[in-house]
Amino acid sequence: MIDGKKVLFSGMQATGNLTLGNYLGALKNWVTLSDEYECFYSVVDLHSITVRQDPAELRKRARNLLTLYIAAGLDPKKNCIYYQSHVSGHAELSWILNCYTYMGELNRMTQFKDKSAKHADNINAGLFTYPVLMAADILLFQADVVPVGKDQLQHLELTRDIAQRFNSIYGDVFTVPEPYIGKAGAKIMSLQDPLKKMSKSDENPNASILLMDDPDTIIRKFKRAVTDSEACICYRDEQPGIKNLLDIYCACNNKTPEEAVREFEGKGYGDFKLAVGESVVSVLKPVQDEFARLSKDKAFIDSVIKENADKAGYYATKTLRKVQKKVGFPERIR
Ligand code: TYM
Repeated sequence: MIDGKKVLFSGMQATGNLTLGNYLGALKNWVTLSDEYECFYSVVDLHSITVRQDPAELRKRARNLLTLYIAAGLDPKKNCIYYQSHVSGHAELSWILNCYTYMGELNRMTQFKDKSAKHADNINAGLFTYPVLMAADILLFQADVVPVGKDQLQHLELTRDIAQRFNSIYGDVFTVPEPYIGKAGAKIMSLQDPLKKMSKSDENPNASILLMDDPDTIIRKFKRAVTDSEACICYRDEQPGIKNLLDIYCACNNKTPEEAVREFEGKGYGDFKLAVGESVVSVLKPVQDEFARLSKDKAFIDSVIKENADKAGYYATKTLRKVQKKVGFPERIR
């Protein structure tokens, strides 16, 4: 609790271009929840270097992502928006938690398996312990809730296990966090292969809607989206392409699948795809415009970076000192 409010933590990697999946699965919910909780939203650049990055490019992307958080509607006066690398407590707590996490647990992580298959020439130790750093992010702020897409649930479960293990040894040190999964959009699938997650690293440019795609591109990609030959706009697993488009439509318009199915009754796939594309444009365009405006305001973004890093650092240090004491590190002499 901070000032009587429950705490929320979440983060996003500054790698590649963000997709509609990142927006609907995470960012959009962050904005909705931001009034209710004391929120920490991090640009998780420590996680990004588990995959080889071009330094200048990473720096640029990290700044763009931080700016995008604000452009999407997070008020930096109310929400703590900061770079993970500016708060050393993340790395310090991560080391400690490494010693309370088992190899067997990390071996089971599907994201590790996927990423090591994709980057077979660079299966580094950081990639393996990535979920421990994620646990450290969350536990450092004693977060009650963590809004994420479905693909991060396994990491959240591990975070809870680590917290409970630590608490069972040392007493109530960490708040055990709950995941928050949005009603719609928790797993947006590829537009070209609806059995695969929409991902920023997809090689087929038509598979993903990028947050910065212009309206024409968005509409064109939806027109090309893979569907089926059922000629039925139904919400069911047997029609994964249509189901995914309905999910996107529902997440953009805050509707339930039943409402959406009723709305498109008797309509053809062509009209439906266009309507989904237009909904996405109407959600993304204001974010893009605000991003363009904010990007020019260097002084403002710089001030957010500085003030929020100090705030995050304050809360992080509080938890870290408690943990260091519990595990038996010598006290600091002032
Ligand atoms: P990342 O950067 O891959 O994704 C950021 C957020 O977007 C969600 N997401 C999706 N949601 C729905 N459909 C999709 N196709 C889709 N693709 C991505 C993700 O679930 C995530 O919520 N390890 C995390 C970042 C992280 C983190 C944390 C998150 C580091 N520390 C602490 C929460 C708390 C990651 O790589 O997310």
